[in-house]
Formats: sequence, C-alpha cells, structure tokens
Amino acid sequence: MKQKILVTSALPYANGNIHLGHLSGAYLPADIFVRYHRLNNSDIIFVCGSDEHGVPITITADKEGIKPNEVIDKFHNANKTAFEKFGMSFDIYSRTSLPVHHETAQTFFLNFYKQGILPQKSSMQFFDEKINKFLPDRYIEGTCPKCGNEEARSDECEKCGSLYDPSELKNPKSKISGETPKLKETFHWYFPLGKFQTRLEEYISKNSKKFKWKENVLQYCKSWFNDGLKDRAITRDLDWGVQVPLDDAKGKVLYVWFEAVLGYISATKELFAGRNNPDEWKNYWQDGGTRYIAFIGKDNTVFHTIIFPAMLMAWNDNNPDKYILPENVPANEFLNFEGKKFSKSRGWGIDVDEFLDLFPADPLRYTLAANLPENKDTDFYWREFQLRNNSELADILGNFINRTFTFAHKHFEGIVPPKSNLQQIDLNMLDLLEKYPMKIGALIDSYKIKDAVFEMMNLARSANKYFNDSQPWLTVKSSKKLCANTINISLQTIFTLGEIFSPVIPFASEKIFAMLNAKPVEWNECGKINLPDNHQLGNSEILFNKIEDELIEKQTSRLGVAEVVQKYDVTKIIYDEFAKVDLRVAQIISAERIKKSEKLIKLIVNTFGGERQIVAGIGKYYTPEELANKKVVIVANLLPAKLMGVESNGMLLAGENKDGVLKIVEADGNLNVGDKIK
Ligand code: 2FM
Ligand code: ZN
Repeated sequence: MKQKILVTSALPYANGNIHLGHLSGAYLPADIFVRYHRLNNSDIIFVCGSDEHGVPITITADKEGIKPNEVIDKFHNANKTAFEKFGMSFDIYSRTSLPVHHETAQTFFLNFYKQGILPQKSSMQFFDEKINKFLPDRYIEGTCPKCGNEEARSDECEKCGSLYDPSELKNPKSKISGETPKLKETFHWYFPLGKFQTRLEEYISKNSKKFKWKENVLQYCKSWFNDGLKDRAITRDLDWGVQVPLDDAKGKVLYVWFEAVLGYISATKELFAGRNNPDEWKNYWQDGGTRYIAFIGKDNTVFHTIIFPAMLMAWNDNNPDKYILPENVPANEFLNFEGKKFSKSRGWGIDVDEFLDLFPADPLRYTLAANLPENKDTDFYWREFQLRNNSELADILGNFINRTFTFAHKHFEGIVPPKSNLQQIDLNMLDLLEKYPMKIGALIDSYKIKDAVFEMMNLARSANKYFNDSQPWLTVKSSKKLCANTINISLQTIFTLGEIFSPVIPFASEKIFAMLNAKPVEWNECGKINLPDNHQLGNSEILFNKIEDELIEKQTSRLGVAEVVQKYDVTKIIYDEFAKVDLRVAQIISAERIKKSEKLIKLIVNTFGGERQIVAGIGKYYTPEELANKKVVIVANLLPAKLMGVESNGMLLAGENKDGVLKIVEADGNLNVGDKIK
C-alpha cells in the first residue's frame, strides 16, 4: 500500500501580500517535499489556505474604512494567485472564513468545554473606547512602573525585564488611536496547557529522536518546557472571528491561534468534499499509518509543536476517532532581504506577485531553494539571483540541455540515436545517473533541501563534463557511432535531470519533458535508461534566458543606492559573513595549462563531495607538474564562473609576497581531504 502523507504549510494571514521571506519559510520547502513524494509513489495531500481572523484584520479594515470581509477577500485572492504563479502545488488553498471551518473549530471548543477542561477566569484588560475594542497587549504601550522606560508593553518591560500587572503600567496608550485605554473586567476560557506538559515532552522526545527534528525547533520547545507551560486564554472579546458557541459568550470569539491550526483539518474536509468523498479526510487525519509533516516559519513553532498537539491530545482523550500528531515540524529560520529584515513600511523587500511580474518563477524558486534558512537566517540578494540564473541555470543546466538537443536535431533527425558498444565514459555517466535519484530523495525527505539542490546542480555539472570529454563535435565526423552514444546518454541524462530538478523548477521540468516527448517515471526509476533507441523527440527551446545587469540594477537602485553600496563596500565584516565562506582542504589530482593563457591552469581536485574542476591563476608561478598531489585550501562555495571559456567551481587560496609572487596555501599533514577550515 502507498504511504499516506499529509503535508500542511502555515496558513498565511489574509492581511497582507506574501513576500519572498514567507516563501522560504513554510512554502517552497513544503512544495519541494510534496512534489518529490508525488513522484515517489506516495499517497500525499498538500493543504494550505488563508488565516482570516485576528485583530490585525479588523484594524486594517477600520483604517481603510472597509469591512473585514473585504480585506480578507482581497488578500485571499491575491495570495492564492501569487502562490499559483510561483508554482505552489497545493491540493487545496482554503480559507478559515468558510462555514466548514467555523463548525470544526466550534466542535473542538465544545468538546473541551463539555469535558470540563476549560476553566473560565476573569481578568482586567485594556479597552480602547474610541475604537470600541479590547486591545491585545502588543497594541498597548506605556511607562514601565519599575524603570520608567516609556516604551514598555502592557505587562512586560523589555528594557528592565520586569513583569507586572497591566493595572500597574503608567500612562498607557493605545497604539491604534493614541487614546488612554481603560482597564475593563472581562472573562475568558482557558486551555489547560500545563496539564499536558509531561505528555508533550514525551511526544517531542520520542518523535524528535525517531524523525530527527531540527535542533533549532528542539531548543525552542525546551525553553518553553523549562519555563513551565501555563493555562492560556483561548477566547477573545472581538466581533470578528469564530463565535464561541455558548449562550453566555456574546461578543466573544475563539482566539485566532486556537482555531487557525484547526484550519488544516477543515481545509482537508473541504478538499475531499470537493472530490465527492466527504469522509476521506479521516483517512489522513485519523489513520495511524499517515505521516504528518507541518511546514512553518520559526515564529509559528510553539503553536505547532506544543499548542496544536496538546489540543489534539485533549480531543483524543475523550473521543473514539483519534487524530495523529505531527511526525515532524521542520521550521525554518528567516530569510532577510539584502542584509535587512523585510519591511513593508520601509519599502524593503518585494512581494511575490510583483517579483513574478518581472521574472519567471523557476529562477526565483531555484535561488531561494539553494539558500533556504534551514539552520540559520539567510539573505536574498539580487546579485545572487542573477548569478544563480545566469551561471547555474543557464550556463550549466540549460547549456547542457541545449547543446544536446541541438546535436540530436541537427545530426540525428530529432530521434534518440541508437546506442552500441558503450564506452567506459558512457558507462560511468550511466552509473552516476543511477545514484542521484536516491541520494537526492533522501536529502529532501530529511528536509536538507539546500543540500539536495546542490546535488541536483552537481549532476548537471557532471553532465557538462561528460559532454565535453566525449567531444561529440569531433566524433560526429570521425565516428558517428561514438557520437550517437554520447547523444543517447546525454538525452537519458536530460531525462534524469528533468525529473530530479522537477520539485525545484517545475515549469522548466515540464518543458524538458515536452522536449523529450516523454513523461516522468517513478522517482527511483528516473536514473535508468528511460528513452528507447529511435524515440522521437519533441521541439526544443531555450529554457533559461540570461538576466541582464540593467534589470538587476534597476531593482537595487530602487532600494536606495546608498544602502546597497554600503552593503558591498564595507572593509570590515561581521563573523557571519566570514562564516559563509566554505573553506576546504582539497588534493590536486591533475593540472594542465589552459591553451593560449600564461596564467591559467585547469585543476581537478578531490574534496568533500568528490572531484571538481577549478581554474587557478597561478600559471606564472607553478608548472602543472609541481602542482600534482599538493594538498591545498579552496573556497568551495563560490558560484561557478568561466575563465577563458573553462568552467571553474571554486578558488584556490594563495598568498602574495612583497614582490608580487603567488604561493599557494598548502594544507598541513594533520588535515585530510574534505576537512573544513574555520
Ligand atoms: O503567522 C501566520 O501567518 C499565521 N497566520 C500562521 C497560522 S498557521 C496555522 F495555525 F494555521
Ligand atoms: Zn522597565
């Protein structure tokens, strides 16, 4: 039977446009994971939708003089369209304003209420009479009763760290109206989170070991447990949201986080209702054999690792239909934009929709995927986007595909030329093809998507090397049979590349398969020979266009030249910038001069991840013979470049003495090939 997998991505608020940071956090990694599993013979569903409640939506509506309904309609539709353009392959993009969601959330609340586990407590809360609303803490500011800080929050001062009762805050102000809010008594129902602490700790300890949870997620959970979980109010005084389904709860709605996480369940119900199979959702949410993965950004961690699981536990305690809990919550850190946080108000960043009006989705997907904030915050840089498109997608992947198709159409009448007597070089390439799908699949399945993307491009690098070393432009004249072998194996390679790249660049992948006149196969089969001899190919086209400097400059100058120049101009760097440089010990396997250049030497070196080619400008100071076998230090994560038409994947470190003579940095005998230099 097929493995059932349920994947959810955080439901974005329908209160603003999604930007690149959102994509890198909870959406693109999930889409890559799902697209891979669809090809890996899994029974997988991918669920998302808009989170349409919460105070910020009502405040936006008030500000713009419209109804909350209009706000959510606008952003729900805008975000749905932007996701589609970006190639998100949700099975459903639902919304929490639907009746099915209100019913689901109310059923959970009532169930807990009837179990008697929701204490009702009174408290004093700030009420803004001008806008006629109780205000959440973050909308109140005042003077700290302990240290006098004038920007203290309602019950906590970030400056001196003291906690106090909101009634002690001096000179409170509503951040919305600027008025002095009144403290008013109210009551709410609380969820007894503390009662679940032991079971939550057990759940996380077990799953995190079994499914290798990310360290950042675990640390976060630990700090919550160390502080001790406490009761949390799950209702609010507001007229926008899911009504609390009790008679004595007029004007009260469910706290947005209490119901939003249940939105995953209601969206799944909607998905299968639409497929005329209304009970099928249970086979995902309530089947012990299903894997459930919740993709989120780090700011959503506590809700998915602690609160949502506790709610499901509370349901399961008292119901015959038991929900499954997340197997993993692979939260990502944040993506920043050109060195700073995204900020709509400061105009720093770019919305997805705006981006995709300027550039196609695949280069964006590839750039983001190659640089996901999996373990630490990362940045989007326009220059990197351009380089990744031009030097990797176009020059490495696109170029190989284009060269192969040009040959097939020009010299073999657009068919897969029959192979015969394959040579060692061809067999080596076929061996390589066999290895990649499993390797990449395993990386994706363990949420190491950045590494998976690196490996995808590595296969494209090897494909170019195979093509170059086989020299079909010579064999086409000297031995058509050898040439046919090269083109045949190159086409098989394009099949493999088309499939393994498909989770990351689905639009290009679709074109590749149209060009091959073929369909993807099951993931683990895609490294085999999939195109029979004499198979008719489709028409070919250029897959990736180069992005010109002017287009990028237009974007960077829009941000304000001064700020971007400063970013690239500083003489001092922070440690994080240095840490981005991946320095490795490598051993030179072979060296040869590049024709017509006195300076350049082409090196094949062995380092972590295998062999690679580097072009070094040391030809005036070393002969190729002197270089062989030397253990050197390389920069391993430079974007590839071409020097005199020869590709270079890295850089050799060398020192320059006072006479301007270069000496390469040699690695000490204690260091081994592949070791990282810090
Ligand atoms: O951070 C956010 O955008 C939230 N709307 C995410 C909610 S995820 C889940 F609870 F629905
Ligand atoms: Zn203070």
